[in-house]
Order: sequence, then C-alpha cells, then structure tokens
Amino acid sequence: METPDVITLCSDTEEDLQAGVEAFLQQVGRLRCICFWGGLGVGKTTFIRALCKHLGVTDVVTSPTFSLINEYHCHDGAPIYHFDFYRLTSLREAMDIGVEEYFFSNTGLCLIEWPALIESLLPPETLDIAVRVAPDGVRTLAIGVRE
Ligand SMILES: Nc1ncnc2c1ncn2[C@@H]1O[C@H](COP(=O)(O)OP(=O)(O)OP(=O)(O)O)[C@@H](O)[C@H]1O
Ligand SMILES: [Mg+2]
Repeated sequence: METPDVITLCSDTEEDLQAGVEAFLQQVGRLRCICFWGGLGVGKTTFIRALCKHLGVTDVVTSPTFSLINEYHCHDGAPIYHFDFYRLTSLREAMDIGVEEYFFSNTGLCLIEWPALIESLLPPETLDIAVRVAPDGVRTLAIGVRE
C-alpha cells in the first residue's frame, strides 16, 4: 500500500493555516465531497474555517452542531455545504434533511465532520481526510485515510 500524503499544519491561527490549505487543495483537486475524520477537538472545524476563508467565504464559519448543515458562498458564488453529524441520531434524520441532494449536487463543495453514521449515503468519489493531533499539539491531515 502507498504511504498516504500527510500535510502538517503549523499553527491554529488562520494565517498560518493558509500554507496547509494550499497544500491540501493541490491534493484534493476538484473533488466535491470531503469527509474529515478524527476525535473531539482535533481541529476539523478550524481547518474547514481556514479552507473556506481561502475560497473567499466571508460568512462566519462555525460548526453547524444543531442545524447539521451550514451553507456558505465562495468568491464566485459557488456554495459550500458544511455538515457536522456529531449529534445525528439516525440515518433517517440525515435523509429527511435531504443530505443526498447536497452530496450528489455537482455545484457545491461538501465538507463533512463526523461522517460515520451517514457513510452509506456518500458518493463513491468521496475523499477521506484523517485529522490528527500529536501530544505536542501539532496537527496533521492524512489524505485518503480514515481515523
Ligand atoms: N491546527 C491547529 N493548531 C493548533 N491548535 C488547533 C488547531 N486546530 C484546532 N486547534 C485548537 O483545538 C480546538 C478545537 O478545534 P476544532 O473546534 O477545530 O476541533 P474539531 O475537530 O472541529 O472539534 P469537534 O470534534 O468538537 O467538532 C480549537 O479551539 C483550537 O484551539
Ligand atoms: Mg468541529
């Protein structure tokens, strides 16, 4: 098996995360559905916030914990759908809010935190990213890896 590409994030300030975002975008290319795996507080939302900023989002990017989904817009008007399924209790609940329409829409970028419960609904070309934090606090993104 090939060794996964790993991107090291140097700091949690949004400015410092921009180099990581650029490296990330080079790896993910035009993929439309990206899952962020990793436990509580590893830095999923922080990275998504930096990514959205890079893509020209001016909306406030926070975890959509209670609404399950937030919608932002890039500088060119294209939508970004930010999901957080931490509090999701059933697959049915996700289907009821129409997540499949978002996942299979070709217009928007889907960024997904806590995807385990809805995995069976994801398109085959979904990209997995494992977000990890080392004991010294350094965060890394492993591309194509889950947890
Ligand atoms: N790249 C980073 N470098 C240093 N600290 C970070 C980094 N990313 C996140 N943090 C710190 O960890 C905290 C939790 O980050 P964040 O909310 O992004 O995690 P999360 O994985 O989205 O958590 P949750 O599981 O609750 O969704 C942040 O408040 C921040 O202080
Ligand atoms: Mg989060």
